[in-house]
Amino acid sequence: MPLGTTPNKFMGHVFLLLISMCLFACTEQVDEAQLLSTPTVRQAAVAMPDSYSADVAKDILQKGGNAVDAAIAAQFVLAVTLPEAGNIGGGGFMLVYKDKKSDFIDYREQAPLSSHRDMYLDENGDVIPYQSVIGILASGVPGTVAGMWLAHEKYGSLPWKELVEPAFNLAEQGFKVHPKLAQSIERYIARLEKRGFDVNFKDYFAGAKADQLFKQLELADTLKRIRDQGRDGFYKGQTAKIISDFMRKEKGLVTEQDLLSYEAKSRTPISSNWREYQLLTSPPPSSGGIAIIQWLKMYDLITRDQQKLTHNSAAYLHLLAEIGKRVFADRAEYLGDPDFVEVPVVSLISDEYIAMRSQTILRDSISVTELVKPGLKESEQTTHFSIMDKWGNAVSNTTTINLGYGSGVVVEGAGFLLNDEMDDFSSKPGVANVFGAVGGQANEIQPKKRMLSSMTPSMVLKDGEVSFVTGSPGGTTIISSVYLSILNALEFSMSAEDVVNKPRFHHQLLPKDVIRYHDGVDPAVISELEQMGYIMSKRRFGDMQVILNHEGKIDAASEGNGRGKSIVF
Ligand code: DON
Repeated sequence: MPLGTTPNKFMGHVFLLLISMCLFACTEQVDEAQLLSTPTVRQAAVAMPDSYSADVAKDILQKGGNAVDAAIAAQFVLAVTLPEAGNIGGGGFMLVYKDKKSDFIDYREQAPLSSHRDMYLDENGDVIPYQSVIGILASGVPGTVAGMWLAHEKYGSLPWKELVEPAFNLAEQGFKVHPKLAQSIERYIARLEKRGFDVNFKDYFAGAKADQLFKQLELADTLKRIRDQGRDGFYKGQTAKIISDFMRKEKGLVTEQDLLSYEAKSRTPISSNWREYQLLTSPPPSSGGIAIIQWLKMYDLITRDQQKLTHNSAAYLHLLAEIGKRVFADRAEYLGDPDFVEVPVVSLISDEYIAMRSQTILRDSISVTELVKPGLKESEQTTHFSIMDKWGNAVSNTTTINLGYGSGVVVEGAGFLLNDEMDDFSSKPGVANVFGAVGGQANEIQPKKRMLSSMTPSMVLKDGEVSFVTGSPGGTTIISSVYLSILNALEFSMSAEDVVNKPRFHHQLLPKDVIRYHDGVDPAVISELEQMGYIMSKRRFGDMQVILNHEGKIDAASEGNGRGKSIVF
């Protein structure tokens, strides 16, 4: 694996802009109830990326629905009110903790049956710019409706129709467009036009104006079929015909057969002890669970005999960047869809392996990027929400169409945006995708395979009770957002508000020695790191939504820059 090669598919500013759009489903922080003082009262909480999903999720919980019911209803609402990431044309992961049992619903998109390894390469073997990111060829087979249906069959307590109805109403009757959304749509249209991308996004979304009602009637019809026919309302019958006819007309790849054979899967979450806690997190095809466990365990091992590092000091950022180099070297080599490649999960998070990996970490200088190899011997819009019900059940759900507004293509007649998730595959070994992530054989394109993801819905349990629910959008930076949120909450005892708003940072091996950081890191820390040799690059991180449970006292927060809303009630 040529891990040291320079990524040549990192497509510069336009994608940084697209990614930054995708980071924020955008947050107006409204805590309707302050923390109640009696820990015995079982509170419920939602931390959502917009106010519509927050209100509907709260409503479902107040009607007696459980956390999974609320999550399903919220997912459909987001498909209407958060078009940059909420979806029925994409996929995601739902981590469930219910009645003290955990489950992981994998509704990640699958590569179409006619896809193949070299589909994004030209005759010289070079990656064709943008083809896996914008336009009809960028989409994997959507998994969201199948995922919600599976979650409903396993855990739902309210009728399916009641869960889809709020989304249908918002699409049919319209919703008032948040000014941040209107602005984001305007910017996206301007970018598409500037780059000359010929997609139909504008035809569907140019009418979404700040503070005005925006109706989506084709989407409403699609949601009505899903409401009335369940899973079949998407993967069979009229919706399936509309999608496949559209694909044929536009020379896309998704066929009736692709839709019919799509499968959401229930997988065993990764569970690992860490300190006095149990970490419950995302297994492959997410890379995030393995990564956050490696990160947190190496951090503890290296700092165990020392004074606690100061939060966001140069020493703290450097140590976590050094660990990140190793985590991402492993990610690129070993991780892919577990239905296609054997992922050595147990080895990668074992204490022996972590100890061995920690040995080469340098505390005062930067390891040479090219020398950081995978360690085993043998060889910008996603959105996240967190929900906890009054019974202590919880859902951590991250969902995406990949970049903000996905492929930019709306299925004509069905009114929903298609994902551009195919870019999460490795189009060519060693060539970086839009998030700068490289990969090899484990993540090459194969029909029906799921592309490797960084989405990492996670929870931390203590004595069988959920003490923290976390997750974020942000491409590969998701992984850093999640482990940093765990350190913020449990190492630095922050409030939920601080957990989501303290500046985060990220290093992923490549680009070489680059630490991406969020505005707000102390300038003195930045110059210290620059003097060490780091290239410091400012950017936004994902719109994080967390819930903290301090022995019955619930604290929830949505990141301040977004348009999210958290409610404790
Ligand atoms: O699954 C993944 O890792 C990416 N498709 C996530 C994309 C994302 O977070 C974009 N938002 N900023």
